[in-house]
Amino acid sequence: MAIQIIAPDRNTDTLKQHLQHYLPGVTIYNDWPEQPRNDVELAILWKQPPGILQQFPNLKAVHSLGAGVDHLISDSSIPLDLPIARIVDEELTTGMRRYVLMAVLNIHKNLRFHLQQQQQKSWSGLQQAATPLHIGVMGLGALGAAVAQDLSQLGFPVSGFAYGPKSLSGITCYSAAQGELSTFLSQVNTLVCLLPLTSATHNILNRQLFAQLPEKSYLINVGRGAHLVEEDLIWAFQQGKIAGAYLDVLRQEPLPPEHPFWTQEGLVLTPHIASVTNQKNAARQIADNYRRLQEGQTLNQSINREMGY
Ligand code: OXD
Repeated sequence: MAIQIIAPDRNTDTLKQHLQHYLPGVTIYNDWPEQPRNDVELAILWKQPPGILQQFPNLKAVHSLGAGVDHLISDSSIPLDLPIARIVDEELTTGMRRYVLMAVLNIHKNLRFHLQQQQQKSWSGLQQAATPLHIGVMGLGALGAAVAQDLSQLGFPVSGFAYGPKSLSGITCYSAAQGELSTFLSQVNTLVCLLPLTSATHNILNRQLFAQLPEKSYLINVGRGAHLVEEDLIWAFQQGKIAGAYLDVLRQEPLPPEHPFWTQEGLVLTPHIASVTNQKNAARQIADNYRRLQEGQTLNQSINREMGY
C-alpha cells in the first residue's frame, strides 16, 4: 500500500524521508506518475494540478500539506465522500502568532515613520510614539484564536469575528451567522484576516468592507489571496480608509512584476512566509492519520466538506 505526495511548487524529498521513517514498509511516491497508480490509498496535496487524482482510483483519503484546504475543496475531482484532513501544528501556530505580532507592533509603534525619520537624521521625539489600535481578528480557528489571545494579553483591545458564535476570554466575539459583520467592523481599526477560504469568505475584503472601517485603518492578510479584492485595497488606500497593510498571501504568487502592490506606499509584502509547515511535524501527523486509515478510524483534523474548513 502506498502514499502519493503531489506538491509541484515544493521540494518534497525531506517530507518523503520523514514519512518513510515513520512508516517503514509503506511505499511513498513523490514523483509524477505517468500511469494510474492502483496502490495509492492516501494522497498528500499542495497546489495539485486539477484532475490529477484520477490517476489514483483506490484513494481512501486526502491530506493537505498545510493548514489550508481551499486547494482541496475547490478540486472537483476529489470525490465528495473522501475524508480530507489538514495539518494543525503548534509550530505553525507559533509562526503565525509571531508574524502577526511583528506586523501589529510595527504598526503600533509607527516603525515605518521612524525609519523614514532616521534616513533624514531627524529626531522626531514623542509626537508619533504609538498609534492606538483596536484589533479585529477575522477567523477564530486554531490560528486566529491564538493570535487574538496574544494581542489581548499584550493589552490591545481585540474583537473577533467567526462564522458561528465563539467565546474567548478577553475577546469580544461577533458572528457571521448572526449578521454581525458591520458591528464588528465599526469597533476596529486594524483587521487581521485568518479566515478559511470558502465560498462565503471569497472576496470578503472588498470596497464595501473597507468603507465601514474608520479612516486610516490597517489590514494584515495572512489568510488567502482570494479573500482580498486587490483593486479595492488600492481604492481604500486612495480614499485614506487604509493607511497601511501587510500582505503575506496574494491572488497570484509570485506577484507579477507589473502589479501595483509592489509600489503602493504603506504596503508591506512578504512572500507567503508568515508560517511555514515543518516537514517533520507534518510527516508525523500524516503518518498517524495513515495508521488511523488502516484501522478504519476517522482522521485527526479532518474537515467538514460542507463548511469548507
Ligand atoms: C498553509 C499555508 O495553509 O502555508 O499551511 O498557507
